[in-house]
Amino acid sequence: MQKVIFDTDPGVDDAMALLFLARHPEVDLVGVTTTFGNAPIDITTNNALFLRREFGFSAPIAKGSGDKYQPGRETHPFPTFIHGDDGLGNIGVPDMSGEPLDPRPAHEFLIDMIKAHPGEITIVAVGRMTNLANALRVAPEITRLVKQVVIMGGAVDVPGNVNPAAEANIHGDPEAADAVMVADWPVVLVGLDVTLKTVMTRSELAALAARGGPAVELLDRLSQFYIDFYSGQVEDAMVVHDTCACVYVVAPELFVTRPGAIRVLTTGIGEGKTMQKPDGMRFGPSAWDGLPSQLACMDVKAAELLALVEETLV
Ligand code: BDR
Ligand code: CA
Repeated sequence: MQKVIFDTDPGVDDAMALLFLARHPEVDLVGVTTTFGNAPIDITTNNALFLRREFGFSAPIAKGSGDKYQPGRETHPFPTFIHGDDGLGNIGVPDMSGEPLDPRPAHEFLIDMIKAHPGEITIVAVGRMTNLANALRVAPEITRLVKQVVIMGGAVDVPGNVNPAAEANIHGDPEAADAVMVADWPVVLVGLDVTLKTVMTRSELAALAARGGPAVELLDRLSQFYIDFYSGQVEDAMVVHDTCACVYVVAPELFVTRPGAIRVLTTGIGEGKTMQKPDGMRFGPSAWDGLPSQLACMDVKAAELLALVEETLV
């Protein structure tokens, strides 16, 4: 079993990823931490509480920061045109303030759990990297204690989705993402290079809902708004961005990875761009010296990945 903490901004595709983790037999979901991103932090946290009730899992949920890593950093608008005003496709999520929330802020929850299970915790981060960067700032020693950090984020060799260079999770708090990439812990970047290849059509999702019970029916219902958006961009389908990162945890053999240091542009017209210096490439002295080698996913066996997702969700 793999102990996983899911750092998430639910979020339509986050919801599918959460159900995948809750249902996969090799995953022990030991915590959920919330981040802002697809919606403000109060909404994403309410959504996490709602999904825990609807999906029937019991992992603790800790609320993350609503502010960016660097004090005073300007905020960006929330992508209501992709995830709806409520972050879950405008289905009308109820108020979940009566549900138990872990008393610790997300970064403290992460630190405590990592120290309680040295070498065992995989963090799957699919929102802004703010909670992870805050945890590193307070307790840098956790880098030695984490098994791996698997991130849905970035666009290494392909265009971005918020500007021609940057992907949303990285662009939304670029200083936090850079701090996470250069930390000396094993990072795997599951970015748009692979996630845009993993699409589940509207009709495939409907077919899954017909045999997957109430949780998958809910997924199908809350995904319609998001699919409407992607039908104008990619195809009439659900891009399963965040689930892709979860699949890496249980089936890394489905991915082609490239090793090398990764950094994030924090200013300028390419703000939020993830860049990799593949191992073996040499320059003169530069800001790339001495950085840890991380993995960027460059290709994926999409059909096999989607088959695994379907088999796990139902
Ligand atoms: C990422 O941004 C969010 O909208 C999605 O939930 C996903 O994590 C895709 O760029
Ligand atoms: Ca997300």
